[in-house]
Amino acid sequence: MKNFLFIVLSAFVLSIVMNLNGQELTNLVNLDQYCFRCLCHAATKCNLSFGCVQGYCGPFKISKIYWKDAGELTLPDDDKVRAGAYEDCAISYGCAQRIVTNYFIKYARDCNGDGVTDCNDYSMINFNGGYQCRTALNNSEPGRAWLERYNTCNPVRH
Ligand SMILES: *[C@@H]1O[C@H](CO)[C@@H](O)[C@H](O)[C@H]1NC(C)=O
Ligand SMILES: *[C@@H]1O[C@H](CO)[C@@H](O)[C@H](O)[C@H]1NC(C)=O
Repeated sequence: MKNFLFIVLSAFVLSIVMNLNGQELTNLVNLDQYCFRCLCHAATKCNLSFGCVQGYCGPFKISKIYWKDAGELTLPDDDKVRAGAYEDCAISYGCAQRIVTNYFIKYARDCNGDGVTDCNDYSMINFNGGYQCRTALNNSEPGRAWLERYNTCNPVRH
């Protein structure tokens, strides 16, 4: 029992250290800091002053439904039921990254059917939402604009 607790505690501490390091937020395949930058660029050109516009908050344009679906994460010591908790997390790059990561843990899949789950799929998930992620981005004007921004930020070219 003691050993088990030790292992659990070690894993917990290790995961915190890995999060602080910022390189590898999860073991989700192909989700790294470069992909995050491109998702941010696709959404708002990574405008850290974007604030909340028409129901979307922060540089990744996170809606309240997305935030709820991702588990209602908050800034440290905040409370998810506090008015403003969603907005304050979504407008902070680090907190927003945690929201997006949780959302992908739930919805990661090969949206474009090319046999891999990579940043192109994460981009489709963030634009379309998890359930409808297969809709081609070039099907709508906002989707085309999103794709155009995303394409100027190739996540594998670093
Ligand atoms: C960032 O977003 C804010 C608020 O939406 C806007 O006023 C500002 O012009 C944007 N900045 C850039 C560089 O696009
Ligand atoms: C839209 O995207 C799909 C899949 O990415 C592609 O096959 C198709 O040729 C594109 N259509 C246009 C009009 O660019």
